[in-house]
Amino acid sequence: MNFKKLIASLQRQSQVHVIAVAGKGGVGKSVISANLALACAEQGAQVLLFDANLGLGNLDLLMGVQVKHTISDVLSGECQLAEVLLDAAHGVKILPAAIGDEHIASLSPLELSGLIHAFSELPKVPDVFVVDTPSGIAEHNIHFMTAAQNVLLVVNDELPSLIAALAFIKVLSSHSITNFHIVINQVPTEAMGQQLFYQLVADAASFDNVTLDLAGIILNDPRMHESITAQTPLMMLFPHSYAANGFRNLAGSLFNWKKSASSGSAYFVEQLASI
Ligand SMILES: Nc1ncnc2c1ncn2[C@@H]1O[C@H](COP(=O)(O)OP(=O)(O)OP(=O)(O)O)[C@@H](O)[C@H]1O
Ligand SMILES: [Mg+2]
Repeated sequence: MNFKKLIASLQRQSQVHVIAVAGKGGVGKSVISANLALACAEQGAQVLLFDANLGLGNLDLLMGVQVKHTISDVLSGECQLAEVLLDAAHGVKILPAAIGDEHIASLSPLELSGLIHAFSELPKVPDVFVVDTPSGIAEHNIHFMTAAQNVLLVVNDELPSLIAALAFIKVLSSHSITNFHIVINQVPTEAMGQQLFYQLVADAASFDNVTLDLAGIILNDPRMHESITAQTPLMMLFPHSYAANGFRNLAGSLFNWKKSASSGSAYFVEQLASI
């Protein structure tokens, strides 16, 4: 199959919500990606969770699944994507990343075409495609976000995470991403979450044409640590906790985001392939 045909076969996936979960290191991107994926699936969506921490992925541990093959086996043509995808709770599929310490920008043309091929052959077209991105504003990381188009920026109540969020907004807005979905994580109260959001809005006011919306607030919950130790996501271990409800609300707001013409998994892969 040539490149154009592959892209065409991906066009059927243009209605997919592709969401890059971004933010400072340690702010909660991976636990949010995992639990958001489960919350979306609980509401009936087909969900694909992509661990884009190519060297240091940990979604398999968080989701309690064991990696047999990785995306590198797909890239090298050794196996089909279906063999690599891991089955997690609620039918969530996980695409594990571990390919040494490489990042997407260093993939060879052959590996990139393997990646495109892999996405074109997804057994079921997902409704939601969550990308857990590495921390930092390195170029290859920014590429995941511009390819995804929907950026879910995670912020907590520590000043460095706020400063990092502003840096993301500044850099991404220069790459034509102007709308940011904000999730405030690990705050003691909803009121404090809202206060933090308004502070971020005020701080971001100096950037032209940038809009922020409050996608959700996830409360600080000591059971999060317990769920990580148990390798069972909070949504599964403590489904009635406040934090679990926060993930459900976050999933609900995500389904209301508008899909732009230039989005979806076809666009995502096309963009990655154009590096
Ligand atoms: N809502 C929460 N309540 C309690 N603890 C939390 C919450 N969110 C995150 N944490 C804690 O923060 C830690 C870091 O979370 P996580 O690994 O998801 O961050 P990350 O942004 O993915 O980090 P990295 O940049 O290293 O990939 C978790 O191990 C957990 O203990
Ligand atoms: Mg992480």
